[in-house]
Amino acid sequence: MTCEKLKNRERFREYARGLTKEMLIDARDNAIGIVRNSAPKFIDLFPDDASVNGYYPAVDNNDGLSRWTTSFWTGMLWLSYEMSGDEYFKKIAEGHIDSFYQKIEKKIGVNHHDMGFLYVPTCVAAYKLTGNEKAKKAAIMAADHLITRYRDKGEFIQAWGDVGEAKECRLIIDCMINIPLLYWASEVTGDKKYHDIAYKHFKTTVKHIYREDGSTHHTYFFDSETGEALRGVTHQGWSDDSCWARGQSWGLYGIPLTHKYEDATFAFDTYDAAVHFWANRLPKDFIPFWDLVFTDGDDMPRDSSAAAIAICGLLEMVKCTENNERKSLYKDIADSMMRALIEKYAYKPTDKTNGLLAHAVYYYKGNMGVDECNIWGDYYYMEALARYLTNWEMYW
Ligand code: GLY
Repeated sequence: MTCEKLKNRERFREYARGLTKEMLIDARDNAIGIVRNSAPKFIDLFPDDASVNGYYPAVDNNDGLSRWTTSFWTGMLWLSYEMSGDEYFKKIAEGHIDSFYQKIEKKIGVNHHDMGFLYVPTCVAAYKLTGNEKAKKAAIMAADHLITRYRDKGEFIQAWGDVGEAKECRLIIDCMINIPLLYWASEVTGDKKYHDIAYKHFKTTVKHIYREDGSTHHTYFFDSETGEALRGVTHQGWSDDSCWARGQSWGLYGIPLTHKYEDATFAFDTYDAAVHFWANRLPKDFIPFWDLVFTDGDDMPRDSSAAAIAICGLLEMVKCTENNERKSLYKDIADSMMRALIEKYAYKPTDKTNGLLAHAVYYYKGNMGVDECNIWGDYYYMEALARYLTNWEMYW
């Protein structure tokens, strides 16, 4: 692994200094204000993955479609409850548990690996915050479902398609955020099988998904007969040899998430290289283009959601790194992106939208949610605010 030299350390130090507590409090109040305004529309229905002209359409959580995203709205309600103490948000979030229980019990739209995304901000959060036993049971069922996708040959969790399908023999970087569900399931059940699969998947991901320069592939294929590692291929990025911004940010969050449960120090140099690669490609306004191949002057949209995810990852990594220079660099990069999101990307309750963050991209080449709000971007932005303003205990 070759760690790129950071091109401009000073710009992060300087811009980060301007992130103030007042700014964060104001941003928190705006975010909670938008959630409050949107809540009456999203009690039994959920915001779709991306807004359309600034407004999230309402969807049924159990309409049979394979979504990974309805959970983020519930997570935003839990965060609003935690940051405001207002029981109104808690009541709506608790009301979602039945829907997620049904989803996993009846296996509605869950033929994929995104069980962590779906069950951590909903049921694990509910269990951690209120001790809700039905939520705990649903989340354990989701963990049981997730481990059925583990492929012994290759030692990874298959992302998409029917389990065992030869053409779907691949992992994807996003799954770094699904495996905390498995670590948690081992903790609450005392059964190590979930943890062991998670950690094997993690090690396989770190070994194959990172390139020599600290950038990442989006997905990685294995031979379905032998488990031999074959090649990195993109799905949502620009090209197989570019670096999809959100993939890189899932990686920036995934390594410290695993380290919370199991020693991941062997991946810390890789992490540092990934941070340098990321930082060197942040444009003048500190928010990445949707693929890191693009740079200032390119006529391409940003992905603000990738910045929000990366902020949470960097702040988590600050907690677990001993190296002071790395610590201060990660914090300065996180603070710079946070300031930029608040000043230039975050909406106010009076704006014409029901989203929190402007200028995100779901899937550029699929023409889905391009330059719109994305519900996970909104969630991670709120999670970042909770991290800055409270002693937030992770749901993940
Ligand atoms: N997990 C899918 C995405 O980030 O778009």
